[in-house]
Amino acid sequence: MDISSILQGGYAHPLSREWQGRRQLTKSMFMYPIFITDDPDASFVIESLPGQRRWGVNKLEEFIGPLVAKGLKSVILFGVPLNCQKDYCGTPADDPQGPVILAIRKLRELYPDLYIACDVCLCEYTDHGHCGYLHEDGTINNAPSVKRIAEVAVNYAKAGAHCVAPSDMMDGRIKAIKEGLIQAGLGNKCTLMAYSAKFASGLYGPFRDAAGSAPSFGNRKCYQLPPQAKGLARRAIQRDANEGADIIMVKPALPYLDIIADAAQLTPDHPLACYQVSGEYAMVVAGARAGVYDLRVMAFETVESMVRAGATLILTYFTPDFLEWLES
Ligand code: PBG
Ligand code: ZN
Repeated sequence: MDISSILQGGYAHPLSREWQGRRQLTKSMFMYPIFITDDPDASFVIESLPGQRRWGVNKLEEFIGPLVAKGLKSVILFGVPLNCQKDYCGTPADDPQGPVILAIRKLRELYPDLYIACDVCLCEYTDHGHCGYLHEDGTINNAPSVKRIAEVAVNYAKAGAHCVAPSDMMDGRIKAIKEGLIQAGLGNKCTLMAYSAKFASGLYGPFRDAAGSAPSFGNRKCYQLPPQAKGLARRAIQRDANEGADIIMVKPALPYLDIIADAAQLTPDHPLACYQVSGEYAMVVAGARAGVYDLRVMAFETVESMVRAGATLILTYFTPDFLEWLES
C-alpha cells in the first residue's frame, strides 16, 4: 500500500478530528432569533416551532438571563405585533412603544455585552402582509418601500441596535439604509447585515405562523429569489456588498450550501452569515422525534456543513442547545 493512501492516522483521535475543520464551532458563531410580542407579560408557546415562544418585554430577563450565563453572545429580534393597527405602510414597525424598540432598550440595559441585531421588514406590520408598499394592482412599489425600510432601520439603530438586518429583498435597500445610518451619525456604529440571497422557500412556514406575517394574498416570488437561481444569488451578493453591506447572509441554509460557498468566494472579505430557518429547524426536530436520527448528532451535522461551506455566523433556533453542547 502506498503511504499516501493512509488517511486515518490523521483523524483517529477526537482532537485531531476537530482539527479537520478549517474553523471550529464556537458559541460566538451563533445568533439566536427571538420573537417579541406586544403583550409585555407574554410567554406564549409556538406550536410549529418546538421549544420557541413569543416573549413579552417583561419576560426577557427570565428568558435571556440564563442563556447569557451560558455564553449567549448575540440575538436577532423579530417583532410580533398582535394588538396594533396594521396599515399599508407598516406604521407600527418603529413605534417607540412597540415591542422591538422596547426590547432593544431593555436588553441593552440588562445585558450591556449582548449584541443585538434587529430584523427589518414590513410584513409583520402591513395590513396586506407583504414586505413593502404595494401599487393598486398588488405589485411592489419599490421607491417608497425602500424609503420606509431605511427609516425603520435607522430608528432601530437610534434605539440602540448594534446591527440592522433587512429581510425584505427590495432592490436598493442596502444603499438606502447605509446612507440613512451615515446621515444619522450611526454609519460607523451600526452593522448592516444584508439578507442578500434570500430564496422563496417552503421552509418559512413555522416563522410566518410565529410572527403572523403570511401575506394575505399572492406570494413573495416577485422579491424573493427562485430556488434554482444561482446566478441571481451571486449578483445579489455582489450588489449588496457594493451597496455597503457589512455582513452577507444566505437564507435558508441547508438547501443552499452551494450559495454559501459561492458567497465565501465572491465576498471573502465580509463575514458570512446563514440562517437555518424555522422549517429547517422544525424538520431536524421532527426527524429526531420520528427516530430517524439523534437530534444532537443531526443538529451538529447541519451547522458543521454550513461552516464547511464558508459561513462564519449562523442564525439558528438551536442556539440554546449549542450553548449547552459546546464548551466555549
Ligand atoms: C420576513 C422574514 C421571514 C423570515 C425572516 N424574516 C419570512 C418570510 O420571508 O416569509 C424567515 C425566518 C424563518 O423561517 O425562520 N421578511
Ligand atoms: Zn417581510
